[in-house]
Amino acid sequence: MALLTLHNFNSYTMLFNHEELAKPIAMVNDIILKIMKSRNSVFIYKSFFLFDNATFVHSVNVSLLTLLMAREMGYKEKSLKEIAWGAFLHDLGKLMVPECILNKPGKLTKNEYELIKKHPEYGMKLIEPLGLSVNICMAIAQHHERWEGTGYPLGLKGKEIHPLAQIVAVADTFDALISDRPYRKGMPVEKAIEIVRAGKGTDFSPKVVDQLLKLLAM
Ligand SMILES: [Fe+2]
Repeated sequence: MALLTLHNFNSYTMLFNHEELAKPIAMVNDIILKIMKSRNSVFIYKSFFLFDNATFVHSVNVSLLTLLMAREMGYKEKSLKEIAWGAFLHDLGKLMVPECILNKPGKLTKNEYELIKKHPEYGMKLIEPLGLSVNICMAIAQHHERWEGTGYPLGLKGKEIHPLAQIVAVADTFDALISDRPYRKGMPVEKAIEIVRAGKGTDFSPKVVDQLLKLLAM
C-alpha cells in the first residue's frame, strides 16, 4: 500500500530527482505500514496523526533526507533500514509536549522552551518498551547535540555524537528551516543552505554538511 507518494513532498520533489527519491519514499512508506500493523507501536502512528500532523510530515521529510545523505555516505542496505527508523522517530518525544506549546505562535517562555528541550529524553522513554536498536535510540536521544558541545541534553562534542544523530541533526535543521510553521513561514532553500553551511564545524559535523551541499549540488 503506497501511503506516501511523490506528491506528498513538494519541496523535496523540486530539490531531488524523482528516481533518487523513489527508494527512500518506499522505505519510509514501509516503516509507516509496519507501525500501523504492530500492536505495540500503533500508538506512535496514531498519535503522530491525531496529535500533530506537522510533526508527522517533518518526521517523514527528515527520514527521506537522512536516507539520501546516508546512502551517499556509503551506508549499506541493512543500516539504511535502521537509519530510516531512527530518523522517522527522532522527534517522537514531542508527543509528550503539549501541542499548544509545540505550535505556539508567539515567543516561548523559558519554562516552555525547557519543556520542549526534554523531547529527546521523552522519546527514549516512549521507545524503551519496544526494544529497538542502539542506532535508533541514539538518533532520538542525540539529534539536538551540536558539534562544538552547545546542544542538549548532554552537551556531547564532535565524534562523541552518534554518527546517525549527526546526520539527523543536519536533516532536521534543514527541513525545519524550509518548512512552514504556525509561527513563521518556511525560508527559501538557498537561505536554509547558507544557515546549515554556516553551522559546519560549529553546530554540525563538517562531513555531513558537505554531504548535504553535495546532494543539493551547492
Ligand atoms: Fe527534535
